[in-house]
Amino acid sequence: MPATDRPRILVCRPVPGEALDRLRTIAEVEVWPGPRPAPRPELLRLVAGRSGLLVVGDRVDEELLDAAGPGLRGIAQFGVGYDNVDVAACTRRGIPAGNTPDVLSGTTAEIAWALMLAAARRITEAERYLRAGRWATGGFGDLMGVDVGGATLGIVGMGRIGQEVARRALGFRMTVLYHQRRRLDPALERELNATFVPFPDLLARSDFVTIHAPATPETRRLMDAQAFAQTKPGAILVNTSRGTLVDQEALLAALDAGRIRAAALDVTDPEPLPADHPLVGRDDVIVIPHIGSATHATRARMTELCVRNLEAALRGERMPTVIDPGVYDRPAGAGGSAG
Ligand code: DGY
Repeated sequence: MPATDRPRILVCRPVPGEALDRLRTIAEVEVWPGPRPAPRPELLRLVAGRSGLLVVGDRVDEELLDAAGPGLRGIAQFGVGYDNVDVAACTRRGIPAGNTPDVLSGTTAEIAWALMLAAARRITEAERYLRAGRWATGGFGDLMGVDVGGATLGIVGMGRIGQEVARRALGFRMTVLYHQRRRLDPALERELNATFVPFPDLLARSDFVTIHAPATPETRRLMDAQAFAQTKPGAILVNTSRGTLVDQEALLAALDAGRIRAAALDVTDPEPLPADHPLVGRDDVIVIPHIGSATHATRARMTELCVRNLEAALRGERMPTVIDPGVYDRPAGAGGSAG
């Protein structure tokens, strides 16, 4: 195929793994060099005339779809969360959008566990203590933490990642409570040793609350002042989902009041979080820069899945992990307009 007739794909950030090479055999692939996302005006210019987009949290809305034009055939979001994508707008235009579920569940569960253990045993604080030369001078009772083994874990959002968190809790002999809209199949509840409870009960009983629900209008500021007031005194909050699920002002107030012991966050609102933000620099808060899926193997699997989604879109086939399957139910010829 002459180069000019080939589909044109924009990849909005350098992504790891070799799958992009496969995409290059069927399409012209341009990669925004990063490391920061393209500024919005630049992105709107770059998407024009593309057949496919691989986005990494970049906002996909009517404006961007208009800028891309009628030739856009598919969008691959590098991540399981897709709150950055206006999926309804894509569907209205007949453009399938896919995400990367499953391939990152264990890896993201492990970052939640890393945060939970680090907050319980004050690992980051202990390392700062040592680096400051305080090991030689500090008191024997410094850096006391709390036990994880045998404690009660509350999982908010028992999807794939929440379930992987629960699986790992079996080894720590924890009591596992969970809450989400729909109760799990009883056989799966038994396998995970997890008990479905109303949200206020989960808050009142859990020593650790870990958030794995998606970012939606319903979950926005789920952990607000009222929720913190219901939380078991001394609990630890872990969030690896999206920063918008936590009211950060209310979190700071709950920490200052001693209502909760600590928070450990992989996600914040906004991202990146400025280094002078009040959440940064506190001994009772661990903040890391959204690295939930950041292992070599997992990120390569995510690239592979994005490429498979784009390959399918270019061939007019069903994306393996399309977000809204309804996009394929639309009458022929319904695509291509914002209507
Ligand atoms: C996801 O998959 O949504 C993660 O947040 C990306 O790292």
